[in-house]
Amino acid sequence: MTRLLFVGDVVGRPGRDLVTRGLKAIVSAHRVDCVIVNVENAAAGFGVTPEIANEFLDAGAHVMTGGNHTFDKKEILPFFSQESRLLRPANLPAGAPGAGHYVARATNGVNVGVINVMGRVFMHAIDDPFRVVLTEIEKVKKDAAVVLVDFHAEATSEKVAMGWHLDGRVTAVVGTHTHVQTADERLLLQGTAYITDAGMTGPHDGVIGVERQAILSRFLTGLPQRFETARENPRLSGIIIDADERSGRATAITRLSLSLKDVDALIAQAASTR
Ligand code: FE2
Repeated sequence: MTRLLFVGDVVGRPGRDLVTRGLKAIVSAHRVDCVIVNVENAAAGFGVTPEIANEFLDAGAHVMTGGNHTFDKKEILPFFSQESRLLRPANLPAGAPGAGHYVARATNGVNVGVINVMGRVFMHAIDDPFRVVLTEIEKVKKDAAVVLVDFHAEATSEKVAMGWHLDGRVTAVVGTHTHVQTADERLLLQGTAYITDAGMTGPHDGVIGVERQAILSRFLTGLPQRFETARENPRLSGIIIDADERSGRATAITRLSLSLKDVDALIAQAASTR
């Protein structure tokens, strides 16, 4: 059995602090073999920098995925040529830096393919994710039976459709982007683990990670506002997936939603069993 941990969209410093502080304890408590983190909102809610990406790798991430905010910080552009563990959606125009897939070696020695694609419903016009994802799967399947797809998309219907499209073709389809964890995790009929959204790792007393007063003012007045990352009530949201590494099928999918207190308890537990 190979156990994957997918950490949902990390937002700003509150989200990063949870990951850098708690990831190793979570990995040891849950006996995780491979960690995938969505990092597209890690730098103050918009994009990611090389320093921040390296922090995630030091904290224990095997692969980092992205989305519509991947390129928001321009200093990340040259980083893609040095660091193949940082992904961007595969269905972007051909000239975009980086790639949408990577095969990681999990801690237990099993190869894990990770693919990142982005939806088109209520989002920017990009290439067809349903077609592009199949080519990406072909690429990683040469080296990995266990494959996880991060589908960064807005519409539930598009995400559910992607789940069925890939049922039996990959180990897991994990939705990201809406920052609200859904309760529809399940194993699909052909053995693919699915959830519409893994949820947000960041401050939960704002509006999907942003300071709530600015968002409220925008809705109440229609005037443009400066959006700052919220601070209160940080939670780490994610998914744990168990995979049979011979068949590539998932055997279980479990939601994770941890407060700072929960994370600290796991850190204390890890320290006492050492
Ligand atoms: Fe996003």
